[in-house]
Order: sequence, then C-alpha cells, then structure tokens
Amino acid sequence: MARAGPVTVALVGAGQRGGDVYGRYILDHPRSARVVAVAEPDATRRAAIGRAHGVPSARLFSSWDDLLSCGRLAEALIVATPDNLHAEPALAALERGYHVLLEKPIATSREDLLRLWEAAYRSPGSVTVAHVLRYTPFFRTVKDLLDRGAVGQLVSVIQVENIGYWHFAHSYVRGNWRRADRACPLVLAKACHDLDLLGWFIGGNCRFVRSVGSLTFFRPENAPPGATERCTDPCPHEPVCPYSAVEIYLRRFGKDRGWPGSVISPDPAARAAALAQSPYSRCVFRCDNDVPDQQVVVMEFERGVVATLVVSAFTAENTRTVKLMGTHGEIRGHLGRGEVSVLPFSRLPPRRFRTLACGGHAGGDDGLMEAFLKRVHEARVGPVPSPLTSLDASLVSHLWALAAEEARISGKMVDLEDWMALIPRQGSPAARRQ
Ligand SMILES: NC(=O)c1ccc[n+]([C@@H]2O[C@H](COP(=O)([O-])OP(=O)(O)OC[C@H]3O[C@@H](n4cnc5c(N)ncnc54)[C@H](O)[C@@H]3O)[C@@H](O)[C@H]2O)c1
Repeated sequence: MARAGPVTVALVGAGQRGGDVYGRYILDHPRSARVVAVAEPDATRRAAIGRAHGVPSARLFSSWDDLLSCGRLAEALIVATPDNLHAEPALAALERGYHVLLEKPIATSREDLLRLWEAAYRSPGSVTVAHVLRYTPFFRTVKDLLDRGAVGQLVSVIQVENIGYWHFAHSYVRGNWRRADRACPLVLAKACHDLDLLGWFIGGNCRFVRSVGSLTFFRPENAPPGATERCTDPCPHEPVCPYSAVEIYLRRFGKDRGWPGSVISPDPAARAAALAQSPYSRCVFRCDNDVPDQQVVVMEFERGVVATLVVSAFTAENTRTVKLMGTHGEIRGHLGRGEVSVLPFSRLPPRRFRTLACGGHAGGDDGLMEAFLKRVHEARVGPVPSPLTSLDASLVSHLWALAAEEARISGKMVDLEDWMALIPRQGSPAARRQ
C-alpha cells in the first residue's frame, strides 16, 4: 500500500450521509481521500456520484453485496445505508480487511452487535463509529471541562434531545424512521448519540435503566375534523397546522437545496410537484408511524451517578441541551448556540465559552471525516491508532439503548448486569484497536 497519497474509499450507500456529507467532504479534500468504488441501488444517485468522483462504471455497483463480493477495492469503506442495513455490510467489509466508517446505529439487535465485535476483533481492519457529536468543538469543550475537574466530581447529568416539532414530523412521523420494525426504536435511531455522550462524560458502568414514553400525539384520533389525507389536497387546516408539509417544505425550507427539502427534491422548483406524490405530504395524523414522540430514560451508574435523557418531538428548537451537576459546580450547554457555561459553587466567577463550528452537526461531520482518514492514513505505516469513537464504546451504548427500549415497553427497570456479561472480555490490544 502506498505510504503517501489520498486514502482510497469505497462508498456503500450514496444518499444524504454517504453522498451529501461524506462524498462532499472527499470532493472538498482531494488530497486526503478519493472515492474509487460506489454501491447504491438508486441508478440516478449512483450515476451522479460516479460522475462527481470520476469512478469508472466497472466500480459502480447496485448493492453493497456486489461491491463486497469483489474482494478489497479500497483501503477504507463507508457504510451509510439505511439503519437495518449496517451490520451485514460492515461484517463483510471487516472480513476483507477494510477500515470501516460505520454509520449509527451500528446494528439494531444484540446478536448483531456481538457479531460485529467478534468480526472486528479478528479483522486486520478497523471500525470508526460515526458518533459525530464527540468531534464537535462544543462537546469536546464539555468533556475537557469535566476532565479538568471544573465541577468537581460528576453526580448527575440531564441531556435533552430537542428533536424539534418539524424535524420529528419529517423523520419520525412521515419519514424513514417512523416505524421501529423498518428502521429501529427511536431511542436507538435518535438517541444513540446521546447515550454515547453520557457514557463518555460519566465513564464506568451503567447498572440500571428505566424508561417511559409513548406515541401520544401523532395518532389518527387526534386529526382535526375535516383534515384531509394530504396537506396538499388541500387541507382546510393547512394554514394554521404547524406540521403542514406545505409550510415545512415549500415555505420554511422552500428555497434551500439541502436537507430536509432535498429528501423530496433537491431542486426547489420541482419540489411542489414531487411533494404531492411523496410520503412527506401525508397528514401527520394519518401515517403508519409507531415510534414514541417522547421518551425519558433514567440511568444509574456506578458511584450512584444518575443520568436522565429526555427525547422529545415537542420542542421549538432542533438542538441538544445539557446540564452536568458536580460536587463543586454546574456546567450548562446549548449546542445550537455553541454556548457552554461553568457555574462554580465557590466564589470564583462563572465562565462562559463560545465554541465555534462550521459544517454539519456543529462541526462533527468534518471532524469525524478528518479523524477517520487520518487513522486510515496512519495505518499504512504502523498500528491503527485508537479512535475517539470506538466500536467498544458504541457497543455498550447501543446495548443501553436496547435496554431502555425494553424498559419502556415492559414498564420495568432493566438490570444491565446480564446484558453486559454478554460483551466479550475487553482490554486486549486487538479490542482496543477497534
Ligand atoms: N451520524 C449521524 O449523525 C447521522 C445523521 C443522519 C443519518 N445517519 C444515519 O446514516 C444512515 C443513512 O442515512 P441517510 O439520511 O443518508 O439515508 P438515505 O436514505 O438518504 O441514504 C441511504 C442510501 O443507502 C442506499 N441503499 C439502500 N440499500 C442499499 C444497498 N443494498 N446497498 C447499497 N446502498 C443501499 C439507499 O438507496 C440510499 O441512497 C442511516 O442509518 C441514518 O440513521 C447518521
């Protein structure tokens, strides 16, 4: 393998993440990476991404299994397929020795999580998990303050995933993540990043998980009288309904070429016609959705540290907020504003930090790609360096998510001892490498 030159990348799934985020990063950083193979069933997307990256037609595949049946075509492979199609391509890629950038959720069942761990353990390749938030200047600042003892010993954390009413309607009522059986439970799909962050902040083992939440509002019985099947029918409630597809896609984001309008059509001029035919114009009370619109998870860690995670559709903002309470002070953060405040209990004055970020996910998307490509680059000349977002840590936080869903459905507290006993013994060099 050449010691210099861009990292060669195979892209599996060329949708919003694969094409618009990772593919775009590679186009913008031609010295760091080059796409040499693509797997994407949508012929239009496949051709467009092939053209943009100059991939020869013999290296354009209509599915991940076709690409992976050709052996190893690149140093790195990015898995950016839908939620329920992550584990299988990742397992096959590890078998062929790829360095894998794996989208979350890394797997949707306990069995697949453990299969991944075992495959990664055996593989000469590696896994970097796309927990983008760890790479943001905002969450790095929070972690750094905790590590430097800015609030003494951490005792409790409240993390709020403010999904935002329109974003929830887009993804979890009308969109791809509306049903747990077709994607995965909300707490895994949306909050696996938050659980990963809680594990990063708190450290140590979580012992017990409790959870409540349900689908309270986006149900047929809540449709106002006379509401039509689609907002575009037209519906008499459209002018006042906050969830109106016309309002969201044609007015609020009407001029944008990017997400979420791009999901309907990247061309704003073609969007109105496409919307009327798409699932995204359906009345929010008449979809086939089943994931909860609010969920609260309470976790008890070693040393009695307690974390509360609130996931809600019913927020004006689409952002995360966090409050970390320690024995000697408090940290408060608002991701959207990039603000982190430290309020010491002593006579020291409060401190306020403004974290600066550009790009998607508050700078996390670019941070992840930079770290991933650096890791693959360094693997050319020596051992693979440890990632900030390891498979080991993600495996544990994904198990917490599945346990939280079990707790929500059963109404019972879940003791995590048996769940954690499933994880193979950690700490070997190969395990740490992942
Ligand atoms: N890390 C993050 O913060 C973050 C943010 C958003 C989404 N995601 C995750 O990224 C993944 C992709 O999300 P997206 O928004 O890009 O979805 P998307 O639907 O835009 O893209 C998925 C792509 O995979 C393709 N695909 C389907 N079957 C395939 C197959 N057999 N082989 C190859 N490609 C196949 C689809 O045609 C589509 O183009 C999801 O799992 C999602 O949860 C992660």
